[in-house]
Amino acid sequence: MDILNVENIRKSYRNNISFRKEEVLRDLSFFAGEGEILGFLGPNGAGKTTTIKIIVGLIRPDSGKITILGNSVSERQTRSMIGFLPENPFFYPHLTLEEFLVFCGKMSGMKGKKLKVRMESMIDRVGLARHKKKRLSTFSKGMIQRAGLAQAVIHDPDLLILDEPFSGLDPLGRKMVRDFLLELKGRGKTIFFSSHILSDMEALCDRASIIREGVIIKNVGLDELFIMGKGKVEVTARGYPESMTGEINQFTDSVKRSGDEMLIVVKRQEYVRSVIQYLLNNGAEVMRVAGVQPSLEEVFVSEVAAGENRNKKSITGELSRVETSV
Ligand SMILES: Nc1ncnc2c1ncn2[C@@H]1O[C@H](COP(=O)(O)OP(=O)(O)O)[C@@H](O)[C@H]1O
Ligand SMILES: [Mg+2]
Repeated sequence: MDILNVENIRKSYRNNISFRKEEVLRDLSFFAGEGEILGFLGPNGAGKTTTIKIIVGLIRPDSGKITILGNSVSERQTRSMIGFLPENPFFYPHLTLEEFLVFCGKMSGMKGKKLKVRMESMIDRVGLARHKKKRLSTFSKGMIQRAGLAQAVIHDPDLLILDEPFSGLDPLGRKMVRDFLLELKGRGKTIFFSSHILSDMEALCDRASIIREGVIIKNVGLDELFIMGKGKVEVTARGYPESMTGEINQFTDSVKRSGDEMLIVVKRQEYVRSVIQYLLNNGAEVMRVAGVQPSLEEVFVSEVAAGENRNKKSITGELSRVETSV
């Protein structure tokens, strides 16, 4: 059964200057199944936060429907099943972490010893045990993010909705969040989280819905996410004459001069050895070999190109099949 179902959501805002309505979400639909981690991937301004605010009932869509375990989000019982981490959490700054989490627990109907035990264990889990008596006003962005995660899970919700849960965290913090989310998934929880960073998705998601300009452009599985995120290899060489670059272009995407070095982007991993061999045989010196991660924009550009190619194929009547793009 789907835990979260988002159907045909539309939302527009009136532009402050032109007063014209601008559609921010255009017929958005997706779902998350029980026990699944669904990523919501898209560049800044794509509409992720707006969608999430609609899901948790903070703003209303112009049209469309959200159901959580088959019920409307406006029902109290449904809300108690959700844990939510907002994009820019603002928590009562005068409260200590302990006071804050007790407050959140009580809001969800918890009390007494059970709440205290749960609070202690969540503070430990997010790595803030040393700071539990400190006021939130003294917390760094990363500590607020950790406190935010603890408040989102304090009542042991079945569905977690996290808006950019990795933002503001150092590598240790990122690992903590990743491990914690996987642990929750292991306990059967459903998790929906947004990010504008492709590599956040790969380590965690079962699937991802990719949003751009208010439209879901693609739903991808984990294997396709990996393919999308797979970087190219860049070889830097010295002493390789520009006039000879034609000789290796079957193996390369681009060859550029940068000062007295040549930057050679190799088309595929398995060509790296041939390129290096060729350079050495021709008296060049190999300075560096490095992996380059594609940015989300680069992935989108190749997605669009792949989409256009597919369209062309079908227009010319050639066999058009569903292929793994990028
Ligand atoms: N309250 C608002 N009034 C007008 N425009 C808004 C409002 N909230 C968001 N937007 C616009 O909606 C678009 C999507 O924003 P958002 O959902 O925050 O994107 P994301 O979270 O993917 O970065 C942006 O163009 C943003 O400027
Ligand atoms: Mg956002």
